[in-house]
Amino acid sequence: MIIRSLELQNFRNYENAHIEFSEGVNIFYGDNAQGKTNILEAVYLGTTARSHRAGKDKEMIRFGEEEAHIKYFVEKRGITDRVDMHLKKSRSKGIALNGLPLRRSSDLFGIANVVFFSPEDLNIIKEGPSERRKFIDMELCQLDKVYMSNLTNYNKVVMQRNKLLKELEFHEDYLDTLQVWDMQMVKYGCEVIRRREQFVKQLEVMMKKIHSSITGGKEEITVSYEPSVRAEDFKRELERGRTRDLKARVSLIGPHRDDLAFLLGDIDIRTFGSQGQQRTAALSLKLSEIEIVKERIGDQPILLLDDVLSELDSSRQEKLLDSIQHVQTFLTCTGVDEFVKNRFPVNKIFRVTQGTVNSEN
Ligand SMILES: Nc1ncnc2c1ncn2[C@@H]1O[C@H](COP(=O)(O)OP(=O)(O)O)[C@@H](O)[C@H]1O
Ligand SMILES: [Mg+2]
Repeated sequence: MIIRSLELQNFRNYENAHIEFSEGVNIFYGDNAQGKTNILEAVYLGTTARSHRAGKDKEMIRFGEEEAHIKYFVEKRGITDRVDMHLKKSRSKGIALNGLPLRRSSDLFGIANVVFFSPEDLNIIKEGPSERRKFIDMELCQLDKVYMSNLTNYNKVVMQRNKLLKELEFHEDYLDTLQVWDMQMVKYGCEVIRRREQFVKQLEVMMKKIHSSITGGKEEITVSYEPSVRAEDFKRELERGRTRDLKARVSLIGPHRDDLAFLLGDIDIRTFGSQGQQRTAALSLKLSEIEIVKERIGDQPILLLDDVLSELDSSRQEKLLDSIQHVQTFLTCTGVDEFVKNRFPVNKIFRVTQGTVNSEN
């Protein structure tokens, strides 16, 4: 799939921008704080209805404005779709597909698939569990509509249950309601756990292959899902942990506390890996993500690489660049050096300055 063009109106620091992309590698370069990442964010938001930075819609509207617009054309198997997204300050966003309004943001599902790779992703192995959960969720929400809905419901239930746990301090008579939330939590939670389990299995197969190739067969990686509680035990454990939850006034077990472990041999590289091992594992994780999306949709996803090249040494850069051949890529960097130029004979180079984008070729 290919995004042909993008139009922005009052999005972040763009008053008006119209960009025509190449179907190969598109490079956006410029100094810091000029608006490079904002372009990738607009593409991510436009295709997934969520920001990778997880901000509120209104934060993305240009300062002093009431509304923002994102419009793009995406081509897939010879069919072109137009997506219009309309961000509003105090209401939820509006999205239209080929001029027809979509009822829910989730109806955008499957129109375009993107993989976002930012420098923070290189820290995913050593960061806390929430970053690794976010990785699983961002991926599964793009690949599986049912998962997205189960996860949304689960998160709502946990929020409500936590609220109740706090209220119970003053209103013990609300205790009966807890049962209702517990049932819902188990219902949606088990679906989330089972789907994550399946996803991590698939991830491991892919990652073993890619990691071995990146390290020239020197390292063999294992990925395992570390659920906070197993699906079959969730109901029982939730009941058993009730007193603890009541004391902590927060839900202590459930998929909102899951993690992913990465091992080299017996060594858990989340805590004991060298920085190099952690970064290589993070790179294979992202490359695996690309492959999984490819397999699932039977097409190439669009790659958004935000300033990652400068964060990688040359051998890791090579590995990354190898995998983006024949894939539409949007890549940001501060300068276009010879290395980048030599790698891509056919591409488009844009210079980004203070919210304007100019094509240089
Ligand atoms: N809602 C907004 N309205 C106007 N400008 C914004 C908004 N949000 C961020 N910006 C501006 O966007 C710029 C950062 O853009 P970014 O794409 O992150 O830069 P970079 O080129 O370094 O990737 C900053 O100058 C920031 O002030
Ligand atoms: Mg940036």
